[in-house]
Amino acid sequence: MKKVIFILMAVIPLIGLCQNPLFIPDTLSGASINLSLQNGQVEFYPGFTTNTIGYNQDILGKTIILEKGNEVTLNVTNNLSEATTSHWHGLHVSSENDGGPHSIIEAGQTWSPSFTVLDHAATYWYHPHLHEHTEEQVTRGATGFIIVRDDEEAQLNLPRTYGLDDFPIAIQSKAFDTNKQLFWNTAADDVIMCNGTLDAYLDAPAQVIRLRLLNGSTERVYNLGFQNNLNFHQIASDGGLLNTPVSLTRLILAPGERAEILLDLSTQQGQSIDLMSFASELSNGIYGAANPSAMPMGSIVGYNDNPLNGNDFAILQINVEASTSNPITDIPAVLINNETFLESDANTTRNLLFQPAQMGPNGMLNGPFEINGQIFDMEVINFEIPLNNTEIWELTNQTAIAHPFHIHDVQFYILNIDGNPPPANMQGRKDVVLVPPMSGTVRFITLFEDFDDEDTPYMYHCHMLSHEDEGMMGQFIVVDNNTTNINELQGNSILIYPNPVANIIHLQGLLPSTIELYNTSGQLLEKRESAGNNEQFNLAEYASGIYYFNIISSEKNNSYKVVKY
Ligand code: C2O
Ligand code: CU
Ligand code: CU
Repeated sequence: MKKVIFILMAVIPLIGLCQNPLFIPDTLSGASINLSLQNGQVEFYPGFTTNTIGYNQDILGKTIILEKGNEVTLNVTNNLSEATTSHWHGLHVSSENDGGPHSIIEAGQTWSPSFTVLDHAATYWYHPHLHEHTEEQVTRGATGFIIVRDDEEAQLNLPRTYGLDDFPIAIQSKAFDTNKQLFWNTAADDVIMCNGTLDAYLDAPAQVIRLRLLNGSTERVYNLGFQNNLNFHQIASDGGLLNTPVSLTRLILAPGERAEILLDLSTQQGQSIDLMSFASELSNGIYGAANPSAMPMGSIVGYNDNPLNGNDFAILQINVEASTSNPITDIPAVLINNETFLESDANTTRNLLFQPAQMGPNGMLNGPFEINGQIFDMEVINFEIPLNNTEIWELTNQTAIAHPFHIHDVQFYILNIDGNPPPANMQGRKDVVLVPPMSGTVRFITLFEDFDDEDTPYMYHCHMLSHEDEGMMGQFIVVDNNTTNINELQGNSILIYPNPVANIIHLQGLLPSTIELYNTSGQLLEKRESAGNNEQFNLAEYASGIYYFNIISSEKNNSYKVVKY
């Protein structure tokens, strides 16, 4: 009986009112780009005014067009009455320009990062990254596209006329309260919004069109496809074109991920076709499937009442109209030649373990989640990465739900997922990867080049924004070992590495302090007076598990968790 109701509810949006033209944001380009994050209002539901935020407009942001090799200055003015940051998701920029949680823009202030565009042609995006408020600000509307163009892409016979045959599509699930205000921190995200439009339709020409798909949702994963299983070709992943177009009928897109696809509508004039999420086909353990938990028990509060979960639903109705002049009518056979990294070139392998902070079925699914036994701490640098290091990161997910892992600064290539080579459409440049639940693994390889900075870290985190805000995040600095004087590593942050540790753990950047080492039962294991700067502790003799360093100085008293393996 229950099931029947769900299906009925799910069908309503399908046949329902696809009545609003898809909003296509205007573009901004040139050497100097001004963004203003401001309050807005949108009438999503007749008679109700919904409070929103957006960049230079009521909701979402203008689309930024960047040209590889050019210099750009972005002036971001915060016209809200609260702090924010502005992160360029996927761009390879210095950590100071990256807009992570340390680059706070206070209310009324302007932040002006300036950089050379080094990225490959692809679809990127920008959004706030204020610690513990990312979900809130993105949900209220702060999401914008960045399109990077380059010469290689320009050589190809691809649709690239913005708004005509080349369309940005930000897919977001949202929750509205009874007053039709947006709310967050909920599994009641039962409304689909495309580019800030409810029940959206797009008039598209009867030719090959390009859709730049972004999953800008807090938690929801989409299993994208078209009605009648119409086939499409993926041409780009997060950070660049693929080697060749990959023919697909389904594409799983997790929060933070982008995919550019070509859709051949040549023979469809006069027809309507829906972009769908075939969520009924998602395996359990993925947010959006019938059960978000890969374990037989447990769910998320409100999840089972949300008709989007485990059911197929429409995202965007595409009405096929007359073709334009000079339409693109072919799917190219080849695109570019990605130069990947060889596993044998890796200098370092790092292991990242996702675990619930609290054991038991509820913690396994609902979090908060830890990476290597730690909840995010603005004061703790989790990894120090030598400049020009080629690294393999091995992610292991010991929770009941799949997490989309994202890293700043770099694009990576996936080596394997659960031990298998990635499918063709995941063999290109990526900055987000969905890590399967229940001991699922992902290995990727990347190179940390061009930017080093001892003071400002880059982030890595789960891109389910609720998980990120709750601390499923860590930070790394990239250091040029040829120039770094360890004694200058001060700042106010204490560096503790490696963590997890097998033997020797280093504590750097200490003020004169008392250092105490405790186990989880509160037993004092070691105590040392430090004159400051660096200390080392040998944990070789201790059992595997969690330990705490209490560092007490005249200025502060902090406790740091470390994992001994
Ligand atoms: Cu899209 Cu660290 O973020
Ligand atoms: Cu990012
Ligand atoms: Cu997560």
